[in-house]
Amino acid sequence: MRIDIVSVFPEYFHNLDLSLLGKAQEHGLLQVQAHDLRDWTHDIHHSVDDTPVGGGAGMVMQPEVWAECLDELLGMDDAAEPTKAEQASAPVLILPNPSAPLFTQRDATELSHAEHLIFGCGRYEGYDARLPEYYRDQHIDVREYSIGDYVLNGGEVAVCVMLEAITRLLPGFMGNPNSIVEESYTGAQSLLEHRQYTKPALWRGHEAPPVLLSGDHAKVDRFRRDDALTRTSEIRPDLIEALNCAELDKADRKTLMSLGWEVSGTHPKPLADAHMKQRA
Ligand code: ADE
Repeated sequence: MRIDIVSVFPEYFHNLDLSLLGKAQEHGLLQVQAHDLRDWTHDIHHSVDDTPVGGGAGMVMQPEVWAECLDELLGMDDAAEPTKAEQASAPVLILPNPSAPLFTQRDATELSHAEHLIFGCGRYEGYDARLPEYYRDQHIDVREYSIGDYVLNGGEVAVCVMLEAITRLLPGFMGNPNSIVEESYTGAQSLLEHRQYTKPALWRGHEAPPVLLSGDHAKVDRFRRDDALTRTSEIRPDLIEALNCAELDKADRKTLMSLGWEVSGTHPKPLADAHMKQRA
């Protein structure tokens, strides 16, 4: 996968050379390049922003400097009609934005199949709204995402978050691909992951659940599934409500009913006046 990142702080992305992302680059799974947006400016001050049209606080990033940079990275200077292969591997342009739809595991999974991602990091009051509009008109797949309901100083941290979520799904990225299958937000029936324990079994008076030491794999699996259902019911009931009841087994239904859910319909519903049980 090829990844281009545009920012006024390209040094920010030195962190991508560390850990598993660094290894993936060394192994050729990923080619990451961070670009300085100011390299596409023409004035002596290398300006990238201007005052908002209509007035207001802060500065807005100018569309033209972004467009000159993005035209080049998107290969739009090339007058030739794209071939079928070029169309299939067309880059996806991702613009982090606190006022956009939330980035989810589903987006990460979808984007992990792309061949080329281009991230553009806004700063100040963000980029001119015509920028995504223009590239959509040019038939570019443009995605705007927020990583959460809070405002950061710029898109750089959001890009690091999205990049990590996307690239760890690439085949060959993780040592043990099973760890992806088991974790939170994965699959159609999305639940928070069960809690994890390591040795010693008794630590500072706190015991790891004895069933995990029983060697009975069926019991361990059931315990973990119930733990995932219980934690999800308590912390993210919206995920329980999104489950498909037809895909729940008998034991799942029993656990959910004991947690105050009705499971006879298409999706679980909180039992009328049920008091959601708290985890012990
Ligand atoms: N830029 C500033 N805040 C952001 C957020 N929450 N998500 C994505 N980009 C941002």
